Amino acid sequence: MHQSNRKSVRASNRESTGGFLMGKIITFGTLKGGVGKTMLCFNIGGILSQLGYRVLVIDSDLQGNLTNNMGIDRTQPDLLTTYDVYNLEEAQPEPDQLVIKSPIDRLPLLDMIAGSIFLHKSELKIASVAGREQILSNYLSDHKAFFDQYDYILIDTNPSMSIVNQNAFLASDAILLVSDVSMNAIEGAQLFIALWEEARKRLRREDNIKGFIVNDFDSRNKLSADYLEYLRTSPDTEDLRPILFETVIPRNVRITESELAAVPISIYDLRSKGCDAIASLVDEMLARGVL
Ligand SMILES: Nc1ncnc2c1ncn2[C@@H]1O[C@H](COP(=O)(O)OP(=O)(O)OP(=O)(O)O)[C@@H](O)[C@H]1O
Ligand SMILES: [Mg+2]
Repeated sequence: MHQSNRKSVRASNRESTGGFLMGKIITFGTLKGGVGKTMLCFNIGGILSQLGYRVLVIDSDLQGNLTNNMGIDRTQPDLLTTYDVYNLEEAQPEPDQLVIKSPIDRLPLLDMIAGSIFLHKSELKIASVAGREQILSNYLSDHKAFFDQYDYILIDTNPSMSIVNQNAFLASDAILLVSDVSMNAIEGAQLFIALWEEARKRLRREDNIKGFIVNDFDSRNKLSADYLEYLRTSPDTEDLRPILFETVIPRNVRITESELAAVPISIYDLRSKGCDAIASLVDEMLARGVL
C-alpha cells in the first residue's frame, strides 16, 4: 500500500467536502439485507485507519453486527450507544462518553459508537419530532470541535429507509450502495435511490449517492459474470453506471473468518484476495474523490 500517495490524494480532496465537518461522512446502505454493508464499513474503516487516517465508525443498525465485529460486548449495562443520541427524553451524552476509543488494540486510530437493539424504540419516539431526520447531523455539528478530529466517519445502516437511517443518509457526504450478485440486490438499490430521492428533496438535500459496490462475486459461477455484464451494459441499469465502481469484491472466506476474529481483513490476512480487492476499492474511492 502506498500510504504517502493516498494521504496526498486525501489532502487535495479536503476542500471538496460539502458537509459541515472537516472530515467526510460516508454511509453504507441499500434496501436488501445481507449484501456486505457491515463487512465493507468494518474493513474500509480498518484500512483507512491503518493508512494513518483518524476514523470513527458508527453502528446505526439495531442488529449491532458492526459492534460485534469490533469486539464490543453489547450486554455491558452502562454502554452508551447510537440510541442515546436519538433518546431525546434524556440529555444527549457528551461525545467523549459515547465514543469508544480504539476498541481494536492494533488499530489505535479507529474509534466507534456502538449500536443498540433499543434503536427500534428510537423510530417510534422520534416519529413526531420536528426535524426528526436532522438529529444526528445536529449532534455532530453541535460537537463539531470533537468530531472534526476524524478524517472519516463511516456509518453502517440496516436495509430500510427508517427515520434513524435517514438521519445517517442526510448527514452523509456520500452514500455507498452495496450489492451482492443478485437481481434482488439491484432492485433493492434502485428502490433505495427512488425513496431517498423523494426524502432528500423534501429535506432540500443535493444528491449524495456516490457509489455502487459489487460484493460477493464468485468468478467460478457464470451467473456472476452475467450479472456484471448486466450491470455494465444493460439499458435497465443505466442509472447505476455513473456510480458503479470498477473494483469488484470477490467472495472470500477469509473475510468471514476475520469478522469472527473481530479484526478487519487487513490485519487478519493482508495477502488474501478479499483484502486486496477492498484495498483496491479504497484506492478507487480516493481517486474518484468519494473518500
Ligand atoms: N465478499 C465476501 N466474502 C465472504 N463473506 C462475505 C463477503 N461479504 C460479506 N460476507 C459475509 O456475509 C455475511 C453478510 O454480510 P454483512 O453482514 O456485511 O451484510 P449486511 O448487508 O450488513 O447485512 P444486513 O443487511 O443484515 O445488515 C457476513 O457474515 C459476512 O461476513
Ligand atoms: Mg449489516
